Amino acid sequence: MRAMDPAQKYPALSDLKAACKARVPWFVWEYLDSATGSESVKPRNRAALERVLFRPAILRGPIAPDLTTRFLGQDYAMPVGVAPVGMSGLIWPGAEAALARMAQARRIPYSLSTVATQTPETIGPVAGDMGWFQLYPPKDPSIRADILTRARNAGFRVLVLTVDLPGPSRRERQLRAQLAIPPKVTPSMLWQVAQRPAWGLGTLRAGTPRLRLMEEYLKLDGNAPSTAHPGYLLRAAPDWDYLRAVRDMWDGPLVIKGVLDPEDAPRLRAEGADAIWVSNHGGRQFDGALAALDALQDIRASVGPDMPLIYDGGVESGLDVLRALALGANFTMLGRGWHYALGALGAGGADHLATLLQDDLIANMVQMGATRPEQVATQLAPRQDRRDEM
Ligand SMILES: Cc1cc2nc3c(=O)[nH]c(=O)nc-3n(C[C@H](O)[C@H](O)[C@H](O)COP(=O)(O)O)c2cc1C
Repeated sequence: MRAMDPAQKYPALSDLKAACKARVPWFVWEYLDSATGSESVKPRNRAALERVLFRPAILRGPIAPDLTTRFLGQDYAMPVGVAPVGMSGLIWPGAEAALARMAQARRIPYSLSTVATQTPETIGPVAGDMGWFQLYPPKDPSIRADILTRARNAGFRVLVLTVDLPGPSRRERQLRAQLAIPPKVTPSMLWQVAQRPAWGLGTLRAGTPRLRLMEEYLKLDGNAPSTAHPGYLLRAAPDWDYLRAVRDMWDGPLVIKGVLDPEDAPRLRAEGADAIWVSNHGGRQFDGALAALDALQDIRASVGPDMPLIYDGGVESGLDVLRALALGANFTMLGRGWHYALGALGAGGADHLATLLQDDLIANMVQMGATRPEQVATQLAPRQDRRDEM
C-alpha cells in the first residue's frame, strides 16, 4: 500500500504537533512543548499574531509571489528559518544534522545552539552557507574565545548572541517530568521510551543525547565539582561590556537575540549589532513577558526602518510570517515547529514543514495581491479592526 501523501495527512503544523506528541516519550514532549510559570506567554504570542488582519486585494490579475529574501548579506529562499533549540537531538535522534541538511537544501538559515547535542565541527559543513551559530555567553573568556574560533572555522558566518537568560527559569513542567540536562535516566523514563519505539530505536542508533560542545570544556574544568555542569559554565549574566567583547571577536554579522524593550534597540545598534532578534524565548524564560509581536512594533518604531529585525514566537504558518513582516520584521524563525515536524515524520518532517510554510506564504500573498513579502504591510487592516477581533 502506498503511504499517504504527507501533504494530505499533515496539511498544517497542528497536525505535525499532534503526531509528534504521540511519537516522542512524555519527558521529551514536556521539554519541547513547555514554557515557564503558568505558560501565559504562549497564548499571548498567538493572540497577538491572530489580531493582525489584512484587507485582501481584488482585480489584480495573476499574482506570482517571489519569496526570495536578502538578509545580512545572504540570499535566502524565504524569510523563514530555524531558531536555535538546545538538546535538539534529544527531541528527535539526529535532529541537528536533519535540520541543517534541510536548511542547506531549502536555502533557509539554520541556527545551531551552544547546547546542541552536536558540535559546530559536525554541523557546520552540513549547514554550509546557511549556518548561524548561537552563543549562550560562557563565563570564562578563554572558553568564549575558543567556541567562537571553532564556530568560525566550522563555517558559521552569522553569530547569534542570546541575552534573555540572565538566570535560570523554573520550567515547572520540566521539573515534573524530572528532566535534567543532560538527561539522567530513571525507570519512569525507560517505561516512557518503551512506549515510543521509533524514538527509542533511533536514539539507540544515534547514541545518548549529550551536550557535545560544552562537555569538552567540562573535561578541562577538573577541580571544582560545583562548576562541573554546563549551566555554571554558561551562566555569565552578560552586560554591555560582554557584548562589546563579543563584537570585537566576531567579524561577521552579529545578531542579538531576546530583545523586547524598544529602549535597548538603538543602543544595541550603536554597539555594533547587525540585527536584533525580537523574542520572548517562546515563553520559556519569563511568564510576565509581553507578546513578542507587540514588542516588535515598538522596536521597529524605535530603531527606524533600516535596522534588520528578526521575529520569533508562536509562528505556525505562512500567514503568521506575513503578520510579523507586516509589523516590522524582516525575517522570522520557528523553534518548536521544526521539532514537532521531526517528531511527527522523522528527518523528512523538516522538509515537509518548509513546504507547508512556503505554500501558505504563497497562498496568502496571492489573496493579498502581493508579489513580495514586504508589500503585505500596505494591506494591513486599520488598527481598530484588529482590536475588534480580540
Ligand atoms: C526546546 C527549546 C529549546 C530552546 N533552546 C534555545 C537555545 O539553546 N538557545 C536559544 O537562543 N533559544 C532557545 N530556545 C528558544 C528558541 O530559539 C525560540 O526563541 C523559540 O522557540 C521561539 O518560539 P516558538 O517555539 O513558538 O517558535 C529554545 C526553545 C525551545 C522550545
